[in-house]
Amino acid sequence: MTISRDVKEAIRLLSLGEVVALPTETVYGLAADGTSDEAVAKIYALKNRPCFNPLILHCHDLDQVKTLARVPYEAKQLAEQFWPGPLTLILERRPENPLSLLATAGLNTVAVRVPAHPIMQEVLQALEFPLAAPSANPSTQLSPTTAEHVDAAFKDRLGPALILQGGACEIGLESTILDLTESIPMILRPGAITREMFEICLGTAVLDFTSEVSKKPKAPGQLLKHYAPRLPLRLNVTEPQKGEIFLGFGEIAFEGRGLNLSPRGDLVEAAAHLFAYLHALDNPNLFQGIAVAPIPRHGLGLAINDRLERAAGSQ
Ligand code: TXA
Ligand code: MG
Repeated sequence: MTISRDVKEAIRLLSLGEVVALPTETVYGLAADGTSDEAVAKIYALKNRPCFNPLILHCHDLDQVKTLARVPYEAKQLAEQFWPGPLTLILERRPENPLSLLATAGLNTVAVRVPAHPIMQEVLQALEFPLAAPSANPSTQLSPTTAEHVDAAFKDRLGPALILQGGACEIGLESTILDLTESIPMILRPGAITREMFEICLGTAVLDFTSEVSKKPKAPGQLLKHYAPRLPLRLNVTEPQKGEIFLGFGEIAFEGRGLNLSPRGDLVEAAAHLFAYLHALDNPNLFQGIAVAPIPRHGLGLAINDRLERAAGSQ
């Protein structure tokens, strides 16, 4: 991985579906085309997370956010005061939107943010798509606030990928996440913008989920909503039953009976297809269930199995 000041090269790589580490005012992010399942799968592969957390979609302004999500009045008020800046809003996805299903982990909500860092803004304005970007750290490490942190955290894992030099992050703490999809706005992650600031801006009460959680701890994995298909899922299947449609992997496939996540057995390709294929097969008018082939439990296979198990367990 190389630290570089070449903004044009970063834009070129992102346009080609590659991953680039970019500065924001909060922390550095590992960014890729948020409309491409393949590009987003590369982020998850680099993060080495054992699960697919949905990602934040970074936009250059509120108008671009409107192409992805329904924007209620409260969101407009908050955007006017806090964007560009360290605020992420959870909104409902628009029915018609260009987003990668993998970026939002199959949810019908989407996390959106308009970052303020001038280099990030320059990159976003040059691109025709929003950037999906989690913090640029491997999943067990701290979030990086300098280009050198990113370099050290990934050592050679990012290969020839680029880290765009943007100096030290001004805020150094991830954005505040505010969920606007429930009846009362709720803080899901604390950050530089506080509950008091929200309440003054909106003139209404805002809940702080994070302080509720600290009183009554739960496993973080249980807090997050996850994708739940309408049809029952049966996992680790090598022989589908009558009425089941098959989601194959590698050589375990039944020609003409479903879809194959990756005929060549590539886990990054399988991750890219996971949510899009589940959505495509999830049709109770045509099938009684979805049978899924065994997926190897290493690399991105861990995250794929985690999501499949949650989806299967939610029925
Ligand atoms: O400051 C930041 O927000 C940085 C910079 C790079 O923008 N990004 C960042 O991303 O912290 P990440 O992926 O490390 O954290 C995103 C958080 C995750 O905890 C994820 O679960 C949550 O946002 N999230 C994303 N989409 C969500 C959704 N639809 N509903 C609830 N939570 C969501
Ligand atoms: Mg993070």
